[in-house]
Parts: sequence; structure tokens; C-alpha cells
Amino acid sequence: MIEIDNIYNMACLEGMKQIPDGSVDAVITSPPDNFCLRVRGENYTRWGKNEEFGHTGRKVNKYINGLTDDLDMEDYFDWQCECIDQMLRISKGVVFYNIQLITVNKVAVFQIIGKYADRIREVLIWDKRNAEPAMHEGVLNSEYELIIAFDHGDCKGRQFRTANWERGTLSNVLRIGKNRENEHRAAFPLQLPRTIIHNFTNEGDTVCDPFMGSGTTAIACIKEKRHFIGFELGKEYFDKAQKRIKAEQAQYTLFYPPQPDSVSDHQPNTVSDHQPDSVSASRPNSDIR
Ligand SMILES: C[S@@+](CC[C@H](N)C(=O)[O-])C[C@H]1O[C@@H](n2cnc3c(N)ncnc32)[C@H](O)[C@@H]1O
Repeated sequence: MIEIDNIYNMACLEGMKQIPDGSVDAVITSPPDNFCLRVRGENYTRWGKNEEFGHTGRKVNKYINGLTDDLDMEDYFDWQCECIDQMLRISKGVVFYNIQLITVNKVAVFQIIGKYADRIREVLIWDKRNAEPAMHEGVLNSEYELIIAFDHGDCKGRQFRTANWERGTLSNVLRIGKNRENEHRAAFPLQLPRTIIHNFTNEGDTVCDPFMGSGTTAIACIKEKRHFIGFELGKEYFDKAQKRIKAEQAQYTLFYPPQPDSVSDHQPNTVSDHQPDSVSASRPNSDIR
């Protein structure tokens, strides 16, 4: 049984299949980016043991969090389509799908955009305020990621149904620096899910993150007084996320409202982590069925 305000150490497809149609209000997620596949000449290949990565001298560890992340392009495309279909099925609202275009996923990402063209409300750019240096000659530094907003109904227009900002105050480029303190290689900075949750969902809504990683979406939900559900397959990250979520939930007692977080990279169109959090008593878990 899947309960809200909980995360589960399991594959997200298996988990989402247990969630009834339209029972969450939004999805915010960032799937694995297929980082460990490689391209050599015109071919996709796998990394050998102890090979060096680009010119960095770093050894390749093709196991991230105990999981491989090197599917063939077609398999990655099929897997992600299955995930997106499930996300759209369980969500009444928008599915915010964050992905960094890298050499070993870009064909699949462009195919996804083509396949779901009439399900895409908008594509937001996450400007990370810092370019990751290119690994090879002739490759551009990478300074942005995509946030594809999949939606229901007629997506001819770009108007979101839930839009908690005044016209003209929120842009489709989110300028939010990457968080270097989080141990997770690909963690969201807290401000990113928080900005999306604040602007595109309402208080009391439930947000699902099927690839929960270090638990950032859940923390953002707690701070913004939304419920969450999530899945994380890697045991190590799952344990860390659990710990982080429990610590955050523990702050939300009636008598001890949480202290504001420190601010980094505050942008005018995004939510500041300094926003005062008013008191919210810790909420009992409830069944999602
Ligand atoms: C890009 S990271 C997400 C990071 C997250 N947004 C955060 O802020 O920490 C993707 C995560 O998906 C997890 N993962 C990989 N395959 C999975 C699966 N089938 N089901 C659930 N989680 C999976 C990985 O272990 C990884 O932590």
C-alpha cells in the first residue's frame, strides 16, 4: 500500500503501478541521465574497468549508487516513455521532467520531445549559473538543463491551469545555482523544486517524485506545505533521503516552527528559501488509495 508523506526503496515503475489514476496533483522528477553509456566514433559502447574519463584522469565508476546507468539508447527511450506514461497516468496535473542533455541521452530526449509533442505545455530552462567544462575538444560547456512540462488535455496553449504568480513575474528560465553540498551527484538545489511547487501546485496538494535521490523534492514539499510520495531504488540514497526527510518533518511541530534556510543565488523570479514558514503541525500519513 502506497501512503502519502512516505518514500519507498523500490523501482518507480513498480511503485507507480500501485498508485491509482489521477491521485497526485503533480510530478517533479529528474530521472537517471544514462551517464555511464559512452560514445566512441559513431558507436555507443560501455566503459571498461578502471578506464579514465575524458582528460580528467578520473577513473570511471559505472556503478552509481550500486546501479548501472548505461542503457542502450533505444532501451533508455522505451524505459523513459514507460515512466512518463505512468507519471501522466497518476497525476491530475503537470509532470515536470528535468533532464540534462548529454551525449549519451540526447537522441532519446529529442525522440521523447517528438513523441509527446502534443502533451508538452512548455519547456523551461534551468540555468545552473555555472558551466560544467567540456570533457573533449569541440564540445560546448554545459550550463543548462531542460525541464519538460508534460500536461493533460489540449496542450496547444502555454497557459498552466495552476499558476500562483502574477502575470509577468515568472519566466521560463529558472536561474538557480547548483547545490555543491549535497552528496548526490545529480541532486536538485532545494530552490528548484521549491520554486516549481510554490508556483504550480497549491497548499495541501500531493507531489510525486519517482526518482527521489537524496529526497530534495520531499524536503521542498514539506517546506511548502504539500504532501509527497517518492521512490528511490538505490538503498544508500534511499537511507540518506529517509534520514533527511525525518529530520525535516521533526522540525514541523506545533511549537517549534522551522528556521529559515540560508539563501543562495536568490533570483527575483524564484522562491527564496528565506520565505517564512508558518507553523504546520506534523501531518499523519494517509493512504493514497
Ligand atoms: C538524477 S537522480 C535524482 C536526484 C534527486 N532529484 C535529488 O535531488 O537528489 C536519479 C535517481 O534515480 C534513482 N533511480 C535509478 N533507477 C531507478 C528506478 N528504476 N526507480 C527509482 N529510482 C531509480 C537513482 O539511484 C538516482 O538517485
